[in-house]
Amino acid sequence: MSHVSQSYDFSTPDAAYAELARDLRALLSGEHDLVANAANTSALIWEALPGLNWAGFYLYKSGELVLGPFQGKPACVRIAIGKGVCGTAAERRSTVLVEDVHAFPGHIACDSASNSEIVIPLLRNGELLGVLDLDSPEQARFKNADARGLEQLARIFVESLG
Ligand code: SME
Repeated sequence: MSHVSQSYDFSTPDAAYAELARDLRALLSGEHDLVANAANTSALIWEALPGLNWAGFYLYKSGELVLGPFQGKPACVRIAIGKGVCGTAAERRSTVLVEDVHAFPGHIACDSASNSEIVIPLLRNGELLGVLDLDSPEQARFKNADARGLEQLARIFVESLG
């Protein structure tokens, strides 16, 4: 799998995310399985992005978010819509970027090492499929360029499901 061994230069974030988007498309090409593609998407993001301590999916099932494929330490399994950063992004159906999780009301601490977080909702024709969640031990790790880049990766993942 050549896709995961390449190093991406995030000193130019837009260029790095464009390369990552191309590699994710290649990695998921021809496969529609949700668990397989979520697993490979989280693995590629984990290998590519510096400064993460968690990267993965929560999937929308029976009215709540349930832990899906991820990289990092074991995490909380179920999150109600509207709760924590993940449940907030799912409820708002828009990306939530948190510079300091300790200042975010209702943040759910799965790993005390986390200091910043970004959550991207996964939408297909207006239907909520789940969220993509990234955590970092760094303060304010995620910028607007990350939000734009990760939203593009989330779109590629959703489109891969067919
Ligand atoms: N911090 C998240 C919970 C999930 S873990 O970070 C993996 C939240 O507040 O929703």
